[in-house]
Amino acid sequence: MVAGNWKMNTTVLEGIALARAVSELCTPGMVVEVAVFPPFPHLWPVRGALGVGPVLLGAQDVFWEDSGAYTGEVSASMLAGWCDLVLVGHSERRHLLGETDAETGRKFAAGLRHGLGVIVAVGETGDERDAGSTFTVIDRQLDAALSAVDEPPPTGAWLVAYEPVWAIGTGRTASPEQADEVCAHIRDHVAERTAADAPRVLYGGSVSADNAAELFSRASIDGGLIGGASLRPDQFARIVAAAANAAR
Ligand code: PGA
Repeated sequence: MVAGNWKMNTTVLEGIALARAVSELCTPGMVVEVAVFPPFPHLWPVRGALGVGPVLLGAQDVFWEDSGAYTGEVSASMLAGWCDLVLVGHSERRHLLGETDAETGRKFAAGLRHGLGVIVAVGETGDERDAGSTFTVIDRQLDAALSAVDEPPPTGAWLVAYEPVWAIGTGRTASPEQADEVCAHIRDHVAERTAADAPRVLYGGSVSADNAAELFSRASIDGGLIGGASLRPDQFARIVAAAANAAR
């Protein structure tokens, strides 16, 4: 899967144009799943722009309750039935907005409860990596998500995105070896904890048209969560092509 996280970028009209450009890259039955994550106000018009094509539509966040007095929040029940995916635990939510592991877990559970495919983002900060605690941090974040659900979700119902915080938006990508090592660890940890096959594991953090092929060639990396480069259709097209090559 190649997923474009637009973050807080684009006007609605720019978002529609970008969604059309992404749609044009994709044909039904292609080997790579392609998804876009526009800002909330764009979701409905982008749904229209994507039409019945194969591009999946996802929300960048979701709230854990279904309805009620939660000013500014959007629930999974509001997205269910017409959005395909939801992203939870993105590092910007965890680190800029103070979201806790437990809150991410509740969002994970809410998305699954409403039949949305959930991408759980995990990742260590630079200091945590330097202190040798990368795996401890990743395990804690994964365990918090999995503890929020009664049963381990079916393999196809969710994905993990490994996004080292120090690599997001910095132009400093994890090396393919570093990324592959952590993605392999995630796979093993989830399989051990759930006694089920691990879901797909994506890498995110300064993925570009120039480094995508090498990252995607690694055995434990099943695709990418793309920030900055997903706003540029030419770059995004090359990243999708790299994933298609790796999948063949
Ligand atoms: P980036 O963002 O590709 O701009 O580093 C990735 C992400 O935050 O998902």
